This record gives sequence, structure tokens and C-alpha cells, in this order.
Amino acid sequence: MRKRNSKDLLTRATGRFYTHEFIGRRLADVVVRTAQLEGRRSVSVIDPFCGDGRLIGWFLEAVSKRDGARPRMWSVELWDCDAAALDTARKRVLETAAQLGVEVEVETVLGDTFAHAPSRFGEFVVCLTNPPWELLKPDRRELDQLDEDVAREYVAQLRQQSSRLVEYYPLSAPRRRYAGWGMNLARAGTEVALRLTANDGVCGVVSPASLLADQMSESLRRWVFEEYVVHDIAYYVAEAKLFDEVDQPSVTLVVSPGVTSHSPTMLVVHDRALRGKEVRFSEQEWHSLRSDGYVFPLQFGPELLGLRSKWDNLPSFADLEGESQDDLWAGRELDETGHRRFLGDKGDYLFVKGRMVSRFRMCEAPSQYVNRDGPRIPSSADHYRLAWRDISRPNQRRRIQAAIVPPGMVTGNSLHVAYFRDDDLERLKALLAVMNSFVFEAQVRMRLATAHVSLGVVRKARVPPLNDRGLTAELAQLVARCEKGDEEALTTVEVRVAQLYGLSHEDFALLLSAFEKVEEEEKRALLTSPAWRCPSVGSQQLAR
Ligand SMILES: C[S@@+](CC[C@H](N)C(=O)[O-])C[C@H]1O[C@@H](n2cnc3c(N)ncnc32)[C@H](O)[C@@H]1O
Repeated sequence: MRKRNSKDLLTRATGRFYTHEFIGRRLADVVVRTAQLEGRRSVSVIDPFCGDGRLIGWFLEAVSKRDGARPRMWSVELWDCDAAALDTARKRVLETAAQLGVEVEVETVLGDTFAHAPSRFGEFVVCLTNPPWELLKPDRRELDQLDEDVAREYVAQLRQQSSRLVEYYPLSAPRRRYAGWGMNLARAGTEVALRLTANDGVCGVVSPASLLADQMSESLRRWVFEEYVVHDIAYYVAEAKLFDEVDQPSVTLVVSPGVTSHSPTMLVVHDRALRGKEVRFSEQEWHSLRSDGYVFPLQFGPELLGLRSKWDNLPSFADLEGESQDDLWAGRELDETGHRRFLGDKGDYLFVKGRMVSRFRMCEAPSQYVNRDGPRIPSSADHYRLAWRDISRPNQRRRIQAAIVPPGMVTGNSLHVAYFRDDDLERLKALLAVMNSFVFEAQVRMRLATAHVSLGVVRKARVPPLNDRGLTAELAQLVARCEKGDEEALTTVEVRVAQLYGLSHEDFALLLSAFEKVEEEEKRALLTSPAWRCPSVGSQQLAR
């Protein structure tokens, strides 16, 4: 076996997943439709991470299918750090041009695009690319296979590259870097592509969908949506399996420099069979997206954006938190790492793990105690708390799994907890009813980009006011029945909470349609519940 050197690893660490033909051809078509090519004699085109040159090949084919005057000459630049790929790319572009009878000049640049791009910013009329998708960091398993010197050289090269990226592309730098690592090359690559584009040019990029959904990419998103005109956004679900070795959802963007036109951008959502569905944003929905850091609900419910006006004026979960007697405290309790060390048969507090908590009840009774000489027990463990699982994968039927944990138990950090400082158990149960509801879950899912139901995302969800005693008593009674698995109560509580949010029967049907894993029978039971015919105490209260 050929011994790996630091350069091989650098290539691996910087990624190589070529674009699927469907995505690439659609992107090239939109770029051609958007670019103003008429009247130009010669047009400069670049793929700064060209791989085998497929995107530029498809672009030339898309141009040749267009009617109207075309530029006489294409001046194409292909950049990549992989010499073999670059060679293939040059041949491919020249062959495509020859077949189409198009005149091209091709220049290739071998090296690190991130380093030499700044001297060429703003030069290209068309920029089309799919940057590498990795996080820049050394892989421990690979380091272990290397000679010490090679490993040191490799880490030093990566570190140098990482610092350079943070300096050149601050918008793409993560807010927190773990041990100095974590630069996301897809973000930095998108920034490179946009900056290479001329003021009168057009840029088309392929990226992991997280670019439009995670909190880390917020600064980059603001820059893109506020300094560029976004002509087209396409989303491809992970199930479409468009990349050979990665099973990730992806997006494409077509943008051009300039101030936002204010007209909302359209999103085309492609399902697993690559059928595209257009989602148009109203001014109000676009405003709501903008004020939320342009987090697109891609993985769940783009069609639910319109419902946000129902709850956007309600207080958020974070608004319930505070220092006063009747305020909420939220956080985590014990670090679970190495928990075997501090658990035993005796102690004052039973230890609760994430898997013991399910919707409305604890599905497994804790049996081990935290040793008396173990970690310090936080004072929250002496309160009735609402606890929800941190890890809960997107493909689960319900992602929010929350229940009440009594005093005398302490939770590990696979659970988040919250309690009212005045120990108002009735209000806590009412909050549990809200939190376990479809409406709350839909809000959270629209923001989740990972397998974690983080406190940060929960804090942003809106909650109907829970100050009315009649209302909290009604919800608490329903919760008590839900805790015993009472099916009728489980249905009624959903309807009551939906009504509290001000959702009509029709709104709720739309909301439920986004929950693909929930069986039709359950949806039917929810929509035909007699609870729709009698408004709850709380909704009467709200209506007054
Ligand atoms: C995701 S592939 C895309 C290739 C091609 N544009 C496509 O759409 O199929 C990313 C390419 O970027 C190249 N690459 C990764 N890091 C690079 C760097 N720092 N400088 C230049 N090219 C790089 C890889 O070799 C790979 O060919």
C-alpha cells in the first residue's frame, strides 16, 4: 500500500464530492437565464473548485440551448488543488466546447483557491461552483497512522490554512472554534465564489443545506441576503441521495451583487424523486424570515411559514425566564461523562438519563443514585421540573419528548430542564402540555438543523400566556390523564393547545400535514376530536 503523505491527507480533508447531474444542470440553466450575456463579445467564467469541470461543461451546454445572441468567446478559468482533476476538467471543457462549436480559452490554476482568490475578487461575469464541504480539522484516526514528522507537518499545514481562512473570510468563521479548528469550507467557499463575481455578474453555488438553516451561518446569510439579489434557491432533501458518499440535504443559490430588491425570493423544494415544489414567500413571511436571521425551515415545514403570523406576537419561551418568583429557570444539571464513576446503590438523588424520559411520562424508572461524594447536586434538583431529551433525531415521529421530573431526582446533560421558581406545579404542567404539542414541536422543528433539541432553539419558540388559573387547571388535569396514557386526553390536549395558539381547524390540518411520520389515523382522530366544538376556558379568555 502506498504510504500516505501529508498532501494526500490535505486533499481528503478538503473534500471531493462531485455535483449530481440533476442539481448541476438545473443550476447552470438558472445561471444562464439570469446572466446578462447579450451584447458581450467575451465572457469570463470561473469554477474556483472545479473538480472534473462538470459544472462549466453543463453551463456551456445550457448556453447553447438558449435563443438569442451569444457571446463569441468564453474565457474559462478552472481552479482546483487536485492536479489530476484539473487535467480532466480542462479536457472536458475543451471537448464540450468543440462539440458545441463554441470558442473557449481555458486557463487552469493548480493550488489553494482560498489563498489566491483575494487577488481576483470581482473579476468574473459568471462564477459557478460547488466548494468542498468539510470542516477543516485533522482526523485523529488518520494522524495515528502517520509517522510523527509527517503528522506534525500535516497539522501545521492545516493550522496555517485555518488561520488564513479566518483572516480572509471572517463572515464564514465559526463563532466558537474547538481547539482552534472548525472552519467550515462550504461556507468559506461560498464566500469566495460570491466575492469572485463581478458587479454585473452572476454566481451559482451548491452547498450543504445547513448554510440556510444553522445558527453558525447567520452572518454569512445576512451578507448574502442583504448585499446580493437572490434570484433562486433550490433545496434537495437528503433522501434524494444525490452525492455518492454523503447523504446530506443540499441547496443551490443563484445570486448577483446588488441591494436586495425586497421582492421575496422563491424556494423550490425537491423531494426524494426530485420533483420540485415552489414555495413563494409573502412579504410578511419574508419579513419573519429576515427577523429570524434567515433561518429557512428546510428540513421541516417550509409550507408552514404562513402560520407563523399566528404565533409571532406571543411571548417566547425565553420571555418566561427571569429572576422573579414566578419566572422560569432553564438549563442543564449534571455532566454525564464518566457517570458510572459517580453512580451507585445509595445516595440522596436518583440519576435520570435522557432515554428514561418520553412524552408526558418517564418510561423507565431510574434506579441508580448519585454517590454522596459524587458531583455537587444543583439546587434545581429540589424542584418539580420539566425535562426534555436533548438528542432526538429528525426522523422521529415526535422530536420533543418532555415529562415532569420530581424533586429528589437529578438529570444528566442528555436532558434539559426548566422549573418555575415558585414551584407552581399546575402552571408547569400547563407548560408541559404546550411543549409536547404539535404546534410547539412544529416551531422547534422549523429551526432545528441538527439531532439536538437545544435549549437555544426551544427558547425561540412562542408560548401562549399561561397566567389564567382556569386555563392552567384545565391543562394540568389533561396532563395528569396524559401521564397515564389516556388516549382521549392526548388528543384533547393537542386541540386545546392549538386553539390557544389561535389556530383554526384548517390551520391545524395544514400543520399536521407537515408531520410525515404521524399516521393518518392519528391525524384523523385529532381533526375530528369533539374538543374542536367546545372552546377551552383559555381560548375564551384570549378572545375577550
Ligand atoms: C465538492 S467538489 C466539487 C467539484 C466540482 N465543482 C463539482 O461541482 O462537481 C470540491 C472540489 O474542490 C477542490 N478543493 C478542495 N479544497 C480546495 C482548495 N483549498 N483549493 C482548491 N480546490 C480545492 C477539491 O479537489 C474538489 O475537486
